[in-house]
Amino acid sequence: MAERRLPDAGGGASLEVTPDGLALRTPTGLVVRAAAERLAGPLLQGRDLLAKATFARAGGDPVRVVDATAGLGADGFHLAALGHHVTLLEREPIFHALLADALERALAGALGSLAEEAARRVTLHLVDARAYLAAAERAQVVYLDPMFPERGKAALPGKAMALFRERLQRQDAGEVEEAELLLAARRHAARRVVVKRPLRAPPLAGVAPSGALKGNTVRFDLYAALAPGAAGG
Ligand SMILES: C[S@@+](CC[C@H](N)C(=O)[O-])C[C@H]1O[C@@H](n2cnc3c(N)ncnc32)[C@H](O)[C@@H]1O
Repeated sequence: MAERRLPDAGGGASLEVTPDGLALRTPTGLVVRAAAERLAGPLLQGRDLLAKATFARAGGDPVRVVDATAGLGADGFHLAALGHHVTLLEREPIFHALLADALERALAGALGSLAEEAARRVTLHLVDARAYLAAAERAQVVYLDPMFPERGKAALPGKAMALFRERLQRQDAGEVEEAELLLAARRHAARRVVVKRPLRAPPLAGVAPSGALKGNTVRFDLYAALAPGAAGG
């Protein structure tokens, strides 16, 4: 299939239909797709801290996880590949389009049978997570991976994150929004909220977690679930 350019996606970026699925090309030449390969099986080496933090181990009882900041789906697709049920929330239409394309291709069998099975466990919504979490039926775990801080040694997220910064600067609504997201997540989760942070970054919205699982460059902060309507802090 020949590459086909779609109308400008904003900020000089364009969406392209390529043989490997929908792709976003930025003015600086980055080409980014959803992390569809993660649907085909766990690729991570070593300790799987994300799975441990979310109670979503391979071979364990299926867990319902809301990945409330889905991005390119690397983390959410990974949890689905491990056998869990994942609801992806993404408010940015471009990233939602990349995720939807990856899921469509997987469901059509283009990425193999494991990816097809995993994609059946994934639900995707174009929505602000704060609204979804306040209204939807509770899931066991809510996972948050909002924007990485601009500065600091731990901000090494690679080209996808460079793209996120490029496109999402305008969305940097700061701590109030982060606090709202964390509170909505804790009221929604029946068991736990997990927040991915660069290893040495302060906790999300300055709210101290009750524990953390630490890797080499990131950590997963753990927050207890709250009763619906409860105050945070
Ligand atoms: C750092 S990326 C997530 C990366 C993701 N964990 C992955 O593995 O690809 C953060 C994403 O969260 C989205 N986001 C931030 N706040 C949101 C909100 N309130 N509702 C929905 N999506 C949000 C952004 O649009 C962005 O795509």
